[in-house]
Amino acid sequence: MQDGSDKDMKQLNEQMNLGAFVFTFGHHFAAWRHPGTDTNEIISMDFYKELAASAERGKLDMLFLADSGSIPLSDAESSARFVYPEATAVLGALAAITDKIGIAATVSTTFNDPYNVARRFSTLDHLSKGRAAWNVVTSTKEGDALNYSMEKLPEHGSRYERAREFLDVTNALWDSWEDDALLWDKKAGLFADKEKVHLLEHRGESFSVLGPLNIPRSPQGRPVIIQAGTSPAGSRFAASGADVIFTACEDKDEAIRFYKHVKGLLPEFGREVGEVKILPGLMYFVGATEAEAKAKEEEFYELILPSAGVTYLSRMLNVDLSGYSIDEQLPDIPLEGNTSRAKIIMETARRTKQTIRELGLHFAVARGHMKVRGTPEQIADVMEDWFRSAACDGFNIMPPLLPGGMGEFVDQVVPVLQRRGLFRTEYSGNTLRDHLGLSRPISQFAASVETAKEG
Ligand SMILES: Cc1cc2nc3c(=O)[nH]c(=O)nc-3n(C[C@H](O)[C@H](O)[C@H](O)COP(=O)(O)O)c2cc1C
Repeated sequence: MQDGSDKDMKQLNEQMNLGAFVFTFGHHFAAWRHPGTDTNEIISMDFYKELAASAERGKLDMLFLADSGSIPLSDAESSARFVYPEATAVLGALAAITDKIGIAATVSTTFNDPYNVARRFSTLDHLSKGRAAWNVVTSTKEGDALNYSMEKLPEHGSRYERAREFLDVTNALWDSWEDDALLWDKKAGLFADKEKVHLLEHRGESFSVLGPLNIPRSPQGRPVIIQAGTSPAGSRFAASGADVIFTACEDKDEAIRFYKHVKGLLPEFGREVGEVKILPGLMYFVGATEAEAKAKEEEFYELILPSAGVTYLSRMLNVDLSGYSIDEQLPDIPLEGNTSRAKIIMETARRTKQTIRELGLHFAVARGHMKVRGTPEQIADVMEDWFRSAACDGFNIMPPLLPGGMGEFVDQVVPVLQRRGLFRTEYSGNTLRDHLGLSRPISQFAASVETAKEG
């Protein structure tokens, strides 16, 4: 089971895990321009209520929110796509309007401190009774750095070094209260057992943290950790400490290679292959017939302004492409230190010789994620094929239009997956770790852990 062979991995899970990747108005780059989109409110409780109700009706594992710290104004007509409500604030609202589904938010390790992130997610885990998850990102946008008192982004490698230390400290803060630390001895006036609340006394390269956290251990022990970087540094970081990995991949063979590679790294970190779930993004266009699904997708394509595609490429490649002719091929962009997504774009450009206009259109639709269109059965066929081929443990679904697209998936595709035994028909547990089939971690300070180490 630990050697990462295809044969062993295929049989790993009987059912897939399904996250729902949420974006204001939907994932399609031009979702806001769709005639069906209500643009009266850009951040609204009604929007999240509808999403949450559909996602829980479909028994999905989690709702996931991306985040970013800047907005490009080079192309103001289309940059509506880059409006992000602060993700943990939305999670607070989601905790209140959901009962079962996991709730995940993106927070950057480059622009925060471990103590405030540990507090935020611990609070969310308490409020949601064990359903919180943190998507740990290192941030990739030069514009973000300018909003956080930096002149430029730290380079790729050092962002990951900081992230490694950040996550170690955050885990230690969540562990700083053992499970049985609280006494609530009203008679003696003893609230907690001091022996079971631990100082960190951490002094590292980037952080100095005394501890303990000022919030006792949360229902999941530690909120679920998600990671979405796929570079060599990102993959190793994920293999060492993530519970879930989100990926962007258009090609099944490439997904199989990544799955095998990351699962193969786990034993090095003392972990089993089942301890990490790999979920590629999946954008879909569903219709009663193939022709209806095709027409739906084409309608979306027509909404993308060529200039918006250029803005998207510029942002992902960290260069300003506005000075280039849109009908020329992409210039050579230095990839040293850039993200794995930038590399995918450049590789596609070199392989297909597409112009900036064509590439912009191609990537603006699904941003390098897989894209499927067809009837519910056809979409389920592709999902089943990837799942059974050990290309993934499930998917992070990306409705092109929201909130309506979530209902379409839940009411049309989920029943097909359920009939095939590929997805749950009821939640069997209460926490996100339960949904994902992940165990609850023991505090690193607990006596049982110390004894195991000594033994
Ligand atoms: C599905 C998915 C979602 C992501 N969401 C965010 C996000 O919300 N905010 C962000 O700053 N980066 C996001 N990223 C970027 C990555 O987390 C990572 O920082 C980036 O890919 C650079 O790392 P890499 O070069 O190791 O891939 C996302 C990546 C993927 C694949």
